[in-house]
Amino acid sequence: MFADYKRIEEWFIGYARNFDLSVSMIQMKYRHSFDVMRFGKRIAQALKWTDGDAAVGVAACLLHDTGRFSQYREFGTYHDGASIDHGERAYEVLKAELPYDMTDDEARDAILQAVRWHNKKELPRLSPSVTPFCRLARDSDKLDIFKMVDGRIEDGTVGELLPRHKVDAPISEVLLDELERNWRGSYKNASSLQDFLLIQLTWTLDINFAPALRLLEESGVLTRIRARFPEDDARVQALLDRLFALIEEHKESLA
Ligand SMILES: [Fe+2]
Repeated sequence: MFADYKRIEEWFIGYARNFDLSVSMIQMKYRHSFDVMRFGKRIAQALKWTDGDAAVGVAACLLHDTGRFSQYREFGTYHDGASIDHGERAYEVLKAELPYDMTDDEARDAILQAVRWHNKKELPRLSPSVTPFCRLARDSDKLDIFKMVDGRIEDGTVGELLPRHKVDAPISEVLLDELERNWRGSYKNASSLQDFLLIQLTWTLDINFAPALRLLEESGVLTRIRARFPEDDARVQALLDRLFALIEEHKESLA
């Protein structure tokens, strides 16, 4: 597979300049794109991907949120449920605008599919030639969202990042029911920050690559999230005990 990563990055920078990067919400997605790209690079290196495959994967990571720019301009929100599916939007933009001579056909398809499926609840069965790239984009994106939310909680600005999840709202009983049933929490039942964090912890079970899970654990973010829940809430603590045991099992299954 062939992708000219440098030219793709130049194309992306040029595309993003069509939008007002001085708006902090837009700048945030621009920075996130590069941060996800850097996570992708580290994971691909740890997996010892060939230079060709790594360039394709890293390009997919950089481009995964290309749909965010026009989504925000048109709808003023990043809430897909109230606007459009931003993975589909990115797929459409790239299909129409990414120059053909920056990749070969196989790499182009892998990048487009990885972008399209990065934000779906589950990755469907796709051709084996594209699946690893979809997995890399999904893992890298999750890692950076963990990092972003954690940083924003620390500096007290998480409300800007997650306006729909209130810091002082209680944990949702309906969400706890869902999680106890099958670890699938829906965002519609998540109104507090802690609800969001519970759902975020379950993302860990969807991490595809051992080095990605290792990076996540080494960052300490899982432990910090856990410490944000009240120790005297027996129901939540029991749920967290089970979840962290499952994360350990998942880690072993990836090794
Ligand atoms: Fe995204």
